[in-house]
Amino acid sequence: MKQSARKKSVFIVILCLWISNANFAQGSSTENTSTKNRMTKLIDDEFNFAAQQYKLLGKNVARDVMPVTFNKKENKVETSNTKWWCSGFFPGTLLYIYEYTKDAEIKAEAEKRLAILEKEKHYTGNHDLGFMMYCSFGNAYRLFGKPEDKATIDTAAASLSTRYRPSIKAIQSWDSSKNFKCPVIIDNMMNLELLSWASDNGADPKFKEIAITHANTTIKNHFRPDYSSYHVLDYDLTTGEVLRKVTWQGAADSSAWSRGQGWGLYGYTMMYRFTKDKNYLLQAKNIAKFILNNPNLPADKIPYWDFDAPNIPNALRDASAGALIASALLELGQYSNKKEKKEYVAVAEKIIESLASDKYRAKLGENGGFLLMHSVGALPFKSEVDVPLTYADYYFLEALLRYKKWYL
Ligand code: GLY
Repeated sequence: MKQSARKKSVFIVILCLWISNANFAQGSSTENTSTKNRMTKLIDDEFNFAAQQYKLLGKNVARDVMPVTFNKKENKVETSNTKWWCSGFFPGTLLYIYEYTKDAEIKAEAEKRLAILEKEKHYTGNHDLGFMMYCSFGNAYRLFGKPEDKATIDTAAASLSTRYRPSIKAIQSWDSSKNFKCPVIIDNMMNLELLSWASDNGADPKFKEIAITHANTTIKNHFRPDYSSYHVLDYDLTTGEVLRKVTWQGAADSSAWSRGQGWGLYGYTMMYRFTKDKNYLLQAKNIAKFILNNPNLPADKIPYWDFDAPNIPNALRDASAGALIASALLELGQYSNKKEKKEYVAVAEKIIESLASDKYRAKLGENGGFLLMHSVGALPFKSEVDVPLTYADYYFLEALLRYKKWYL
């Protein structure tokens, strides 16, 4: 081949490569645009629906209590007093709806519910103060910046810190009972957000130190080699020793209760946000691996209520675990490389689209006013089985807002 002919064919090959690359890039950018358009519409539809549906829910619930779930048989919204661990989710969900829609009626409802909850800042009966006071007042302060809401958060953090036990280097979740001496549950990771945020925003630095110590103890004791976690560890308060590793809400002591895996994933991602400690990030990524590579994770990515439930594939799903995992993965994506982020966001998208489908999302005026169907509270106690749950709605809307903020 002559020199000029060779040059010509090299040029043609380069041109072909460039065109195919450009087509590929255009293909993937078209795909990105269509995902963005789809998610933008989904998010908008879900928040408009949520505003209407939560106005109905508010009307179904007396002024001095909070909604928990819906009893279909009796056509009645089940409620709790403000000491129940779920009492922060209704005001928190209303605030998320307000954040998106700016609907004044929703804001007024949120304010009324915050007013009945505020007194629980002094509660020390269990570890749930973070769920109760940060999902509610944390969001209120973020949105409106009222000093009295910050004072409520700081007082709640001080109340929670009284449950720290130096001998076990952790926060005691529940008081001792006939079942446990000093139980610490994986869910407790979630309450560290209240402590960490309070210290980072001017409250006693001791709160965050407690949160860090608790997170380190949990890494040391709560996880199995595959990064699944036990639900409950029972400690000896005198020696600090772990007495038993068992379950309360899961299928078996050795099983991976789905919501517990979600609490762990969310908890370590959130602790990385506050500390930038690489161990927490690694822990979160390893938990994500356990969840995402689990052969028992269904194609629609909504977990069975336990990854080791006995009757898979006929076991019940837990929409609350799905919503929580989606929200956590979206945050974890923010701290990950391109490849990991792509995987986490794709799974979160799938979860969100599944939850927004007719299979999980209720119709207007149905489901007692809750958004999502098909969650499981505590199956071993036949409590809250295959029902809506206030926290499923909360983490679903949180995931939508996170998606909008970071990925649209
Ligand atoms: N924190 C209680 C539960 O997840 O059911």
